[in-house]
Amino acid sequence: MKRKVTKAIFPVAGLGTRFLPATKSIPKEILTLVDRPLIQYAIDEARAAGIKEFIFVTSRGKSALEDYFDDAPELETSLRKKGKTQLLEELKATNMDSGAIAYVRQNRPMGLGHAVWCARRLVGNESFAVILTDDVIAAEKPCLQQMMEAHAETGGNIVAAMEVPHDKTSSYGVLDVSEDMGSLVRVKGMVEKPAPDVAPSNLAVIGRYILTPKVMQNLNKKKEGAGGEIQLTDAIAEEIRNDNPVYGFRFRGQRYDCGSKAGFLQATVAFGLARPDLRDEFSDFLGDVVAMRPAAE
Ligand code: G1P
Repeated sequence: MKRKVTKAIFPVAGLGTRFLPATKSIPKEILTLVDRPLIQYAIDEARAAGIKEFIFVTSRGKSALEDYFDDAPELETSLRKKGKTQLLEELKATNMDSGAIAYVRQNRPMGLGHAVWCARRLVGNESFAVILTDDVIAAEKPCLQQMMEAHAETGGNIVAAMEVPHDKTSSYGVLDVSEDMGSLVRVKGMVEKPAPDVAPSNLAVIGRYILTPKVMQNLNKKKEGAGGEIQLTDAIAEEIRNDNPVYGFRFRGQRYDCGSKAGFLQATVAFGLARPDLRDEFSDFLGDVVAMRPAAE
């Protein structure tokens, strides 16, 4: 029987320059969609997919992230005293068991591949997941769980994928498809951030991966790729050349690019509208804003 994937890497070392000045003193992963930080969405998705060990690759200035997952006994006592039981339950759901999270440091920003490689000793000789917290995916069944189910059938390496506009390929890893089976595609090549005229397709990698330990070994070579960085895409592509299978998985769900301001705003609106306690008031407000827009122009 195939071993279950129980470890996930969260590369959270990025500087978050696109969200300055907010990210001058808080990690971008703590920025909130409605009332939950981005990292919480990623952790919840990982938990739903059966992940038990959470490996954060951090950097200087990210200590707020470590504090976030600790128990908050004073806060809990105060909420209990005030009888705010629902809030208390919500708060407790964010606590992580001692030992479930491990932190490793990436000393220098050398690319996503390098960040993942920093977790090699904690991953050992097991397949592992990678979640990029910038990519928030709203889905009935969480994206990583969908991928785990597909992976149970295929084994090998799987990356989340979706079609993007042709002129946007240079923002993504892009798949060269050898066989299209619908939600699954077999991949014969992968390119990191190709210009539209050389991109093999417009099927882009989105930040969810299930990878074999061999990808980690490929990262040992520390070969620089696009942008002079060590790219995860290149280490996965090497597996194809070694005749080990790589699949793209067209997930069911809506992806928001919360690494960009526009994407973050879109996610805020979508998640706000999805909340029963906010929906009515918020949609009335949005209706008014839209109605007023021509006058403001
Ligand atoms: C990273 C990956 C890229 C992938 C993207 C998805 O790029 O390197 O292959 O398509 O995430 O969001 P980044 O957005 O960190 O530049």
